This record gives sequence, C-alpha cells and structure tokens, in this order.
Amino acid sequence: MNVIITENYEEMSKKAAEILINVVKNNPNAVLGLATGSSPIGTYENMAKDHRENGTSYKNVKSVNLDEYVGLTADHDQSYAYFMRTNLFDKIDIDLKNTNLPNGVAPDLAKECDRYNALLNELKPDVQVLGLGSNGHIGFNEPGTPLCSVTHLVDLTENTIKDNSRLFASIDEVPRQALSMGVKNIMQAKSILMVVSGKNKAKAVKGMIKGEVTPDLPASVLQLHPFVTIVLDKDAASEL
Ligand code: GLP
Repeated sequence: MNVIITENYEEMSKKAAEILINVVKNNPNAVLGLATGSSPIGTYENMAKDHRENGTSYKNVKSVNLDEYVGLTADHDQSYAYFMRTNLFDKIDIDLKNTNLPNGVAPDLAKECDRYNALLNELKPDVQVLGLGSNGHIGFNEPGTPLCSVTHLVDLTENTIKDNSRLFASIDEVPRQALSMGVKNIMQAKSILMVVSGKNKAKAVKGMIKGEVTPDLPASVLQLHPFVTIVLDKDAASEL
C-alpha cells in the first residue's frame, strides 16, 4: 500500500485529483470507478477546475459508480446519481451515456444486481476511487460482508444510517437499503485510490492498514491488492 499523508482536506483532494487526471491523460479511454460521500467532493472540484483551465478531456472516459440508495430516483437530491451529476459529470465533458450507477429504483433489484455485475465484468476500472466508512466499510460493504461478494442488496447498519443522516432532513428519511458493488468487484479494479479525512476515521484507517485482513473491517482487504494508494489527511492518519 502506498500511503500518502497530507496536511488537510484541501491537500488530500489536490493529490487525489492529480492521480486521477494523470490516469486520464495517459489513457483518454480510461474507465474510472467513482465514489460518493464528502471525502471525494474536493477531488472532483479539482478535476473540474483542471478541466476548465487545462482542458483535460473526459469525452471518451467511461465510469462506474460503487453504489446507490434503494428507493431514491436519479433526481432526488440525496441520490448518488444526482451527487455525481452535480459534483462532477455536469462540470466536465464526460458523455452521460458513458456513466453508470446501479439503479436503486429498478423494479427487480436482483436482476439489477445481475445487470451491474455483467457490466463490471466488461468495464474494469483503471482506477477505483474509494472513501472509507467510520466502521471500515467500502462502497456499502458493511462489516461482515464476505470478501468474495459481488453487487448485492445491502441492509445498511445503524452506524451508517446515523453517519449519513447529516445529509437528510431527518434520520427517518435515510434509506435503509442500498445496492453496492461487492468487495470482489472492487478488488477487480486495476488500481485503487482511497481518500480519507477526519479524526472519526482514524481508527478504521489503522485497522485497514495495520490490522488483520477480516470481513469485520472490509477495507482491510485492500492489503491484498497490488496497486493501492491511500491519501490521508493528518487527522485520519493520527492513529498510525
Ligand atoms: C458512504 C458511502 C461510501 C463512502 C462512505 C464515507 O456511506 N456509501 O462510499 O465512502 O460512506 O462517506 P464520507 O466520505 O461522507 O465520510
């Protein structure tokens, strides 16, 4: 694991954006695996700025996202489809037809998982962006998820519902389920780029990097991937 410790969220975001921009510059047909949450917002801002100022083009880039809430339509302001449009896709020249997320309002969620798995077998990300849940989750792979899992329907833990309730009007509005790439899908990416900031993640960061590989802390599986870069801010690195 290549662990980079930065001063703060801004520096972390610049560093992560630099890595992603280089992937696209080296391969204009790259497949980007993307993530949501507060952690990558600054990274996406820097990518948008670079696109405006330096013209890095995403015209031929394809993307696959990690996860989506069940029951939120793409125009709901807390859906991950909406997040991706407002934080990145609308600010760069990517063709929306080349962007992919699981559909959390598909009539048959099991079929939707199969569709997404088939897609992921075709589109292997050159780099998969990840955030880290305070309980060590990646995507929505909660503690206890088998490390061989593929895209599946997830019952969110109370911990995650509470963490994510800050973005909703009340905790009752947070969806209780999501569709998420499985751990195995994530590990199929050619490389992984994780961004983590804040003291509330420090314990999970320590377990992920220094602890044993265990489904109890899904992110620990990244120790087994050959090309992982983890960009931390000082607070997230404070227990290392
Ligand atoms: C969410 C997402 C994850 C994200 C994580 C951390 O529940 N499903 O993909 O990485 O939790 O979120 P944040 O970056 O807002 O702390």
